[in-house]
Amino acid sequence: MTETTTERTLVLVKPDGFERGLTGEVLRRIEAKGYTLAQLQILTPDRERLAQHYAEHEGKPFYEPLLEFMSSGPVTAAVVEGDRCIEGFRSLAGATDPTKAAPGTIRGDLGRDWGPGVQKNIVHGSDSAESAEREIGIWFGGQGA
Ligand code: TYD
Ligand code: MG
Repeated sequence: MTETTTERTLVLVKPDGFERGLTGEVLRRIEAKGYTLAQLQILTPDRERLAQHYAEHEGKPFYEPLLEFMSSGPVTAAVVEGDRCIEGFRSLAGATDPTKAAPGTIRGDLGRDWGPGVQKNIVHGSDSAESAEREIGIWFGGQGA
């Protein structure tokens, strides 16, 4: 049996999720899984914050469209807490490409492909404990991060 480990992860409901009225649905799935919403805020992120958040992708072909898309409207940022919730939320989210994401996942059920360019895949979730702490600092720095 895997040991119980309480973790924190950073979840974003991206501008496509906000615009389509899916913020509540995403948060509902997080809570239904048994995770806790520890911190929550809605904001339209500026480029500087997004450049920090997506630093690992700088220079890739989708980087500019990604920053453009992510700064195009409100985003809900959440610190989510729970046992093994970093991997657990990535499982709830599903594969990056909404067409390939399995049914039952957020991206598989709700995400859409919008032709070439950036994937509008509803959510972000941290991919490791190190990423989670770094990203929580970017979105909630100075607020108990
Ligand atoms: P990535 O960190 O690889 O995916 P994930 O969000 O599943 O951790 O990429 C970050 C975001 O960049 C991804 O959610 C959508 C966008 N993206 C594209 O638009 N095209 C791509 O080919 C990739 C890899 C990512
Ligand atoms: Mg990622």
